[in-house]
Amino acid sequence: MKIAIVGPGAMGNLFAAFLSRAKEEIWLLDKNAGRAAAISGSGIRIDGISGEWQSRVKATADAKEIGPVDLVIVCVKAYDTKSAIIRAKPLVQEGTVILTLQNGIGNIEILSEVAGGEKVIGGVTNLGATLLDTGRVRYAGRGETVIGRIDGRIPVAIRSIREIFNKGGLETRISRDIKGLLWSKLLVNAGINALTAITRLNNGRLAEFESTRRIMREAVTEAIKVAKRKRIKLIYDDPLAKVEAVCEATAANISSMLQDILKKKHTEIDFINGVIVRQAQELGIPCPVNSILVDLVKTIESSYALEVSR
Ligand code: PAF
Repeated sequence: MKIAIVGPGAMGNLFAAFLSRAKEEIWLLDKNAGRAAAISGSGIRIDGISGEWQSRVKATADAKEIGPVDLVIVCVKAYDTKSAIIRAKPLVQEGTVILTLQNGIGNIEILSEVAGGEKVIGGVTNLGATLLDTGRVRYAGRGETVIGRIDGRIPVAIRSIREIFNKGGLETRISRDIKGLLWSKLLVNAGINALTAITRLNNGRLAEFESTRRIMREAVTEAIKVAKRKRIKLIYDDPLAKVEAVCEATAANISSMLQDILKKKHTEIDFINGVIVRQAQELGIPCPVNSILVDLVKTIESSYALEVSR
């Protein structure tokens, strides 16, 4: 299978490295030509819970150099989804499948609008990874990846993707209820990401303090109320326990939102806690904790410019 991974962040690099172990043709599409050249030259280095190892992957900033592929895996930040899939158009032909493994809600809709819903499949991954430098990733937390179509169908292409992911060492299964899964993952991200970004604690330490555990529980409880009202079937019997379990399983990880804050980058807050706040408002459900988390993360984002101008 010819696979192109769009976005060389922690997750994009991690997937590229693992999938190249499955002996498939793997490409990384990066919007930054210099970084793509560096990854092509030196490969991807993984350290952490799977030991230290290196993987050779072809990377480019020119989608035409890659040409049409069987599978596009979108790993860019949610706010870049539209521009990334427009740039990736030369990769897409009839029969190409586009898989989003991004955090948050709204990516399937954006990809479907640009490329056509028939091509798009959703996925969630609970792997924890930190980008240390260009092409250098710390693999900090195991977790399964689940993929599926929004209409619940399981065409052959999805089964092939599951096989290749598992062959590469990425524990993967298929679900007929990807919406339920995306919301279940949203709850995890809503509980962990903003709070780690504000406190600058890693995932494991977040669960150590009574105060952060309480805020985390309140944010997740609000999200559960929204999901229930929307009749979304969450996959966990006890979503609160699940969020704490993810903190433990990815204890050494710096959440993706904290990584963004530390690099003074834009965050995915609008696609995570922001989604919960907007949907809660529409449904008339009080959502004070998520609103505060959104406001605080946006304040941190706005402060970058002030710090630079001082
Ligand atoms: O966004 C993240 O960092 C990850 O989705 C997760 C699972 C919270 C682990 O850090």
